[in-house]
Amino acid sequence: MITATAVEKKKLEQPPLDIHFLGDRVLRQPAKRISKVDDNLRQTIKEMLQTMYSADGIGLAAPQVGIHKQLIVIDLALDRPDEPPLVLINPKITKSGMNLCSSEEGCLSIPGVYLEVTRPEAIEVSYKNEQGKPCKLEATGLLARAIQHEMDHLNGVMFVDRVENNLALNEELKKRGFATSAVKPVRK
Ligand code: CO
Repeated sequence: MITATAVEKKKLEQPPLDIHFLGDRVLRQPAKRISKVDDNLRQTIKEMLQTMYSADGIGLAAPQVGIHKQLIVIDLALDRPDEPPLVLINPKITKSGMNLCSSEEGCLSIPGVYLEVTRPEAIEVSYKNEQGKPCKLEATGLLARAIQHEMDHLNGVMFVDRVENNLALNEELKKRGFATSAVKPVRK
């Protein structure tokens, strides 16, 4: 059995997967539930991790590399080589805290753009790990934010869709060469 999470946390000259950028329709397609956790899937997880580490990211969702599956990888410990990354298969938020908080987010699919997004501060999520074992996790702070950001990708939602400050949004996107028409505001 492959252990995808044992992959070395380093940059590769030629990452195995290509990341799609804002404006690409691929990012707007919803992801499908994964029915079988096998070596094939673990190979995909490994390649997603290698691609994420190569891009200096802390999270990557499968749709960002053109794979329409409910699969996310997250690593908030890039400086700790022995700490395994988090792999979430078919994640589902089972509880959301009442407290909202605002913090800056970025995305490997929108390089250079960093903007404030408001989200629940704490969540509880259920998912399967890379061995296919059902797991549950309570998260707060940056981890809760990363999980929610990546889970949005599974529904074709980008973090810029949630930015409330339109002025800052348009300015940042323009500066980085992205079309403002690529934003699909989330209705509240
Ligand atoms: Co993202």
